[in-house]
Amino acid sequence: MPEKPVAPEPPAPDPHDGHDGHDRSAVRTLLRLWPYVRPVRTRLFTAAFVAIVASCLSLVIPLVLKWLVDGPVADRDPGGVWLGALYLLLLGVAEAVLFGYRRWLVARPLSGVEARMRADLYGRLQRLPIAFHDRWASGQLLSRGTTDLMLVRMFLAFPLTFLLVNAVTILAGYVLLLAQDWSLGLVLLTPVIPLVIVCSIFEGRYGVVARRAQDQVGDLTTVVEESVLGIRIVKGFGRHRSQATAFRELSGRLRGTELVKARLLALIWAVITFVPELAIGAALVLGTVQVADGDLSAGTLVAFLSTALALRWPVESIGFLLAMSQEAATATERYFEVMDAEEEPETGPATGGTLSTPAGPGTTAASGTTAGGPGGVRFEGVSFRYPDAPADAPPVLDGIDLHIRPGETLALVGGTGSGKTTLTALVPRLHEASGGRILLDGEDIALMERDRLRSLVSMAFEEPTLFSASVGENVLMGADGTAGEPELRRALGVAQADGFVERLPEGVATQVGEQGLSLSGGQRQRLALARAVVGRPRFLVLDDPLSALDVHTEARVEAALREVLRDTTALVVAHRPSTVMLADRVALLSRGRIAAVGTHHELLRSSAEYAWLMSGEGEGGAR
Ligand SMILES: Nc1ncnc2c1ncn2[C@@H]1O[C@H](COP(=O)(O)OP(=O)(O)OP(=O)(O)O)[C@@H](O)[C@H]1O
Ligand SMILES: [Mg+2]
Repeated sequence: MPEKPVAPEPPAPDPHDGHDGHDRSAVRTLLRLWPYVRPVRTRLFTAAFVAIVASCLSLVIPLVLKWLVDGPVADRDPGGVWLGALYLLLLGVAEAVLFGYRRWLVARPLSGVEARMRADLYGRLQRLPIAFHDRWASGQLLSRGTTDLMLVRMFLAFPLTFLLVNAVTILAGYVLLLAQDWSLGLVLLTPVIPLVIVCSIFEGRYGVVARRAQDQVGDLTTVVEESVLGIRIVKGFGRHRSQATAFRELSGRLRGTELVKARLLALIWAVITFVPELAIGAALVLGTVQVADGDLSAGTLVAFLSTALALRWPVESIGFLLAMSQEAATATERYFEVMDAEEEPETGPATGGTLSTPAGPGTTAASGTTAGGPGGVRFEGVSFRYPDAPADAPPVLDGIDLHIRPGETLALVGGTGSGKTTLTALVPRLHEASGGRILLDGEDIALMERDRLRSLVSMAFEEPTLFSASVGENVLMGADGTAGEPELRRALGVAQADGFVERLPEGVATQVGEQGLSLSGGQRQRLALARAVVGRPRFLVLDDPLSALDVHTEARVEAALREVLRDTTALVVAHRPSTVMLADRVALLSRGRIAAVGTHHELLRSSAEYAWLMSGEGEGGAR
């Protein structure tokens, strides 16, 4: 059974690596969040308004101070001083209450936004084609659904509001400063230009590093996930050390990136704090000189300086608000990379003059060169290559012509890697054929709705996957809600699974899958087989369904399966003669083509390759 490699090397870069952060605009990216934010916009705007009011309240404090210094303090009026102190206290309390209210306003709607985005991502991942999942590391997808969405929520809660609040506050503050003394105000305005330049440089740099860090989190998630899923191989082959090395290497790399981020943040913080401080110092000196000369009241200078100091936090926080916005933009970008990936088209590309003339199993449509033909499954010149295969590699399937008659069971035999699994995957359109067409009862599957196609075709895969659910639920997944207890019993019987299921602690209600009881490979395979037959599908595709069974169980399953297969059109991938014996005819897949079709005995005589493939089991199968 092919095992997935356990991170033999640092995971390959994903298709998103082309992004270097230079060609994108954080604002444009973040604007894409609008559809999600729209439903809660009233709350967000109210919250922003409340925050602006609260923040501007802090600018009133210097005005009260000015009144205090020039009035009651200059007049030595203790009653006035107490009153001033009371005003200041009230202002402080109002500010605190308003900020608290803002937080309350945004908390619930924003977790709703996050939940909706996550649900959309999940839905999308379910609908994206297998080819997409082949290409993307699961850790990358996981991290997008977790860390990245958290960053987006944090952005909507803080930086989004506070960049606005701080901008308004700074603007209002400057108006106040200039109104109080325009020459001193101008001194404080000088740092604005260098700060804007520094901030924009910082933003660009930080965006690149943030992207790198988030991608590295995805890679790290992949390694952790693979080591957990592959824990048996890790232990069995004594691979802890190399796994740990791969992990250490990646986490070291992530740490390096985080340090670069921290360094950038420290630098911008230092500049943003230091430059305005210089300006305030200069204003202090100038103002003191003016007060000494009698050009300025002491109260105005106090008010001026405390306004300037009140603006310190809004200015200083811009550095990390920008940093958080960049991270959120990166997260949004990563989120939409998945959301933008192309979904499977409902009907495939129309190939040539397709006549979809559904012919019931009983009808005998005029056979001949025209499309349609009799029922069953018909492959016509089907070719396929994997989208991510190297350009010069030959296609996996190259001109497959094959007809499985209605009610017939056809075994598909071929060397390992010859494309059997690929061929079977084309029938339910898990992959889209790159050329040719496949007809089910005369109907081109590329023109069928996926849901209908998949209700007609049932599959059991090479590697049986069970979900964290009860045995019964796992099996009944194969029928679209219509099957009940009797069908479940029958399917378990066909798969010879009823015996062992009965002995499970809670019978069919036993929880299996990752969160439940572990079953043996053969047990899992039999449940997967039961799942495939429970819905009495018209077409059945089985990819080596009995490989893990002992010969006796296999024989019993086959006997029961023969009953099912009697009125089902089936394609069964087989490696062993015993499985081949189930089939009416056998097709040999070789070098991307169907090299021969016939009964087992015919092929044994006529095809050296077939005889060789079957010879591993000796003559046992060819009784
Ligand atoms: N997702 C994929 N992307 C690219 N190439 C793939 C992919 N899956 C399979 N292949 C390649 O396609 C070829 C056919 O693979 P396939 O799984 O169909 O073989 P198979 O006949 O089922 O083999 P086995 O008997 O071992 O199950 C192989 O060379 C394989 O490397
Ligand atoms: Mg296979």
